[in-house]
Amino acid sequence: RIAYVNGQYVAHSEAAVHVEDRGFQFADGVYEVCEVRQGQIIDLTRHLTRLDRSLSELKIASSMSRTALTLVVREVLRRNRVKNGIFYMQVTRGAARRDHFFPAADTPPTLVITAKSTDPSLMAKKYASGISVITVPENRWDRVDIKTVGLLPNVLAKQQARDAGAQDAIFVDRNGIVMEGASSNVWIVAADGTLVTRPAEHGILRGVTRTTLLDVTEILNFKVEEREFQMDELLAAREVFFTSATGSCVPIVAVDGKPIANGHPGTVSSSIRNAFFDVAE
Ligand code: PDD
Repeated sequence: RIAYVNGQYVAHSEAAVHVEDRGFQFADGVYEVCEVRQGQIIDLTRHLTRLDRSLSELKIASSMSRTALTLVVREVLRRNRVKNGIFYMQVTRGAARRDHFFPAADTPPTLVITAKSTDPSLMAKKYASGISVITVPENRWDRVDIKTVGLLPNVLAKQQARDAGAQDAIFVDRNGIVMEGASSNVWIVAADGTLVTRPAEHGILRGVTRTTLLDVTEILNFKVEEREFQMDELLAAREVFFTSATGSCVPIVAVDGKPIANGHPGTVSSSIRNAFFDVAE
């Protein structure tokens, strides 16, 4: 495997950044994960737009033009022969002697890109069986709209899920309002058949998959509401599912050990998932 690190293509096993990198020292960096399907990058423009937004919110300089970045991404995919898989881009504020203040303005940002193939049949299995999740109290900072590499609450939530015999976790705030998954957005099909997902103005990451799925649901003529919803509405839903670049649309069949509807994946999530790849570009 080959990784891209600061202008060089290097063996993945040897790819490294400096010990004084601010990503390592302070989680002072941002990232994107994109899916590749049949050789096609899904929603690249939207991911690059969000990357730019994350960088500008944190006042990190972007190290490369979009065109150049796209060329490097394609080269990483080519060198790793990725036809179906994901790639990861991370930009940090660069390497400088540890000091909380921003480093000198001429410190170059660090840019890392990695890619790996994934097995579509493993995803198909997940879609067929659905996953079970736990809920955890929302304990993150209030700028989760920025896709930073500061993911410790997400890491702890996912591991807590695994230790409990579940596959993933949903953050729920102190008022019982459903926020998002540890690495995905949450949708429900409410009792009346309406699709509901939380507004993304604050409190969650505005998922690219979520945005594209809103386009899909409009094309499919589904009734959709962007509004907050509580845990009791989620538990009474006909369907619950996650959306993210790594899983498109994954059905959730149990929450905190309680089955959702009949405990099997529903038809709305599967029809949306099938339409998704026709709309995403
Ligand atoms: N996570 N919410 C959070 C907290 C996320 O980390 C992600 C994505 C999403 C969904 O965003 P998108 O549809 O753009 O992937 C929502 C990536 C996949 C990850 O951390 O691996």
